Amino acid sequence: MATVKDTSKWKFETKQVHIGQENPDAAFGARAVPIYQSTAYVFEDTAQAAGRFALAVGGNIYSRLTNPTQGVLEERIAALEGGAAALAVASGAAALTYTFQALARDGGHIVSQSTIYGGTYNLLKHTLPSFGIHTTFVDTETADFGLAGIEAAIQPNTKAIFVETLGNPNSNVVDFEALAKIAHSHGIVLVVDATFTPPNLINTIEYGVDIVVHSGTKFLNGHGTGLAGLIVEAGKFDWKASGKYPHLVEPNVSYHGVPFADAVGPAAFVTYIRAILLRDTGAAVAPLNAFLLLQGIETLSLRVERHLENTFKVLDYLRTQPKVKAIHHPAFKSEPSHELYKKYFPKGAGSIFTFEYDGNEEETKAFIDRLEIFSLLANVADAKSLVIHPASTTHSQLNEAELKEQYIYPNTVRLSIGIESADDLIADLDQSFKG
Ligand SMILES: Cc1ncc(COP(=O)(O)O)c(C=O)c1O
Repeated sequence: MATVKDTSKWKFETKQVHIGQENPDAAFGARAVPIYQSTAYVFEDTAQAAGRFALAVGGNIYSRLTNPTQGVLEERIAALEGGAAALAVASGAAALTYTFQALARDGGHIVSQSTIYGGTYNLLKHTLPSFGIHTTFVDTETADFGLAGIEAAIQPNTKAIFVETLGNPNSNVVDFEALAKIAHSHGIVLVVDATFTPPNLINTIEYGVDIVVHSGTKFLNGHGTGLAGLIVEAGKFDWKASGKYPHLVEPNVSYHGVPFADAVGPAAFVTYIRAILLRDTGAAVAPLNAFLLLQGIETLSLRVERHLENTFKVLDYLRTQPKVKAIHHPAFKSEPSHELYKKYFPKGAGSIFTFEYDGNEEETKAFIDRLEIFSLLANVADAKSLVIHPASTTHSQLNEAELKEQYIYPNTVRLSIGIESADDLIADLDQSFKG
C-alpha cells in the first residue's frame, strides 16, 4: 500500500480490504468525491441482496455499516497512516470507545498514559468500568517516560497499552518504539490517539503501533465544521498467536460464523468493529462529515506547515513575556520529552500547547477573556486560533488530585495556534498581557 505524505499532491491509488465498497471517483469520473446522502442501497435482485447480507457478494447494504463517501475517506486515511485498513465513525470519542470495547470487552484491562484528553480519561476512569473494562493510569512524565510503570501495570487480562502521540493538553511525548516492544512482548497491542499529530507529521505504525485513532474533528477536518473519528489498523498484529482476543479469531455467532482474523486478515480489527459494534450501536459517520474530512485532508499538509510556522513564532514571543511563568512545549530543551520530540517529530509538531500564566485563576481567566482573535471554545487544531482554560472546561470533570496528576493548574492556558497572520496573533496576546 502506498503511503502518501503530502496531501496537497493527493493521488488516489489504494484499495483496502473490508466489506465491499465501490470507489465513487471511478464510478462517476468526478474529481471531488460525491456526498452519498443515502441511507440504503438498491439491490439488483433478491439473490444479490441475500449475497450481500451473507458477505458472499461485496457492496453496500445500509449506511450504518458502509457508505461510499465514507469508504473513500477510510481508504485515504489508511494510506496516509500506512495502515492496512480503516474505519470512520461519528466522532473521535466513538472511535476510542469502539477501540477499547473491541479490545478489552467485559473483564478486560487497559494500561493508559495519565496525561490524556479529559474526555478519554473520563471514559476510561468512570464510564467503561461500568461495562467491565478497567484501566490503570501511569504517569509518563518520569525519567524513563513511564516505561517501567507501564510494564509493571500489565496484568494477565490487559488487552492494550494506550497513549496519545502528543498528550492533551501539554504536548508531552512518549517512546512509541519502546512501548510497542513492551506491548508485543506481552502479546497485546499498542494503541495511539494521533489526533494532535496528523499523518504528514508522523506515521506511528512505522514504530510498531498497531492501532491509530484520530478525532477527525481536529486537524483532518481543520475548520471546525463536523465531527468524525477514525480507527486505522496497521494489519501486522497476529491476533491468533496472541491468544488474548478470541472474539477476533473464533467464528462469530452473530455474524454468519465469520472468524474475522481468517476472513479479512489485516483488516480483522476494524471489520469486527464495523460488523459487530457499529452494526449494533450505530455511531456511523454522516456522509457530509466524511466529505468535509476529505476536503480538509486535501489542504492538510499546507495547513500544518503554517500551523507550525506560527506556533514557533508565538513560542518565541511567549518566552520573552514576564507574565508567562512556564511554557509546556516539547520543542524546548527544558521539557523532559525534548529528546523524544526530536526523534519522533523531525518536522516539528505541537501547535496545541499550554503555558502557565503568572497569576491566580481569576487573573488567568481575565487574560483569556481579553483575547480578541483567539476564539474561546472547546476544540483544537482548527484553522482559527483557539484558547481555553482546561481546569474549568475540558478537564473540569477531574478532581484536584487528578488535575495535578495531569499537570493542569488553575493558571494553565491552552492555546491552539491557527493559520492566521502570526503578527496578528502576537499582537492579540500582547494587548491581553498588557490589559
Ligand atoms: C486527543 C483527543 N482525542 C479524542 C477527542 C474526542 O474527539 P471528538 O470530539 O471528535 O469526539 C478529543 C477531543 O477534543 C481529543 O482532544
